[in-house]
Amino acid sequence: MKNIIIFASGSGSNAENIAQYFTNNSNVKIQAVFTNNAQAGVIARMEKFNIPCVVFNRAEYKDETFFLNKINQYQPDLIVLAGFLWLVPEFLVNAFPNKIINIHPALLPKFGGKGMYGMHVHEAVKAANETETGITIHYVNQHFDEGEPIFQAKVALTQTDTPDSIAHKIHDLEMAHFPKVIENLLF
Ligand code: GAR
Repeated sequence: MKNIIIFASGSGSNAENIAQYFTNNSNVKIQAVFTNNAQAGVIARMEKFNIPCVVFNRAEYKDETFFLNKINQYQPDLIVLAGFLWLVPEFLVNAFPNKIINIHPALLPKFGGKGMYGMHVHEAVKAANETETGITIHYVNQHFDEGEPIFQAKVALTQTDTPDSIAHKIHDLEMAHFPKVIENLLF
């Protein structure tokens, strides 16, 4: 049995897609979703899968002993950041070497770094007149969007694309690829 913990701050469409993908797989269990946002849409999305949500605040997140205890309860084989907006602290990176991954909605190293999340990324891609964009799944280190890449998928852009249409294209790539990449890392 492989255990996954998901970290999410927002809507949770990736978390839901991952939960759905593994729902009938008896070798993989989504043990919990950790969120820094008590209002996050991901909380309601997890209810139908009976996946518990752990809400934490900044002080709890910074408290190494407290936070590692919380995580270790679930014995994770993989920690998956799916729209999680806080920087991962060094103690967490060190406690789970090569076991924390993130999805980023652009072709890193382009359009990464602090503040580059969600629509901000798609707006920047549009403003730069890019002819393609995509997703990057990468290992997490203590810097935003800088860990070793694991997987990228690309999609072409045209002059008529808008930040919204780019967001749709990215969403489709995320739904198609993220759970499979996770599965490949687990087995
Ligand atoms: C996803 O597009 C993910 O790639 C992005 O946030 C979105 C979360 O959507 N992550 C980042 O921008 C990280 N820098 P979701 O909550 O519906 O899964």
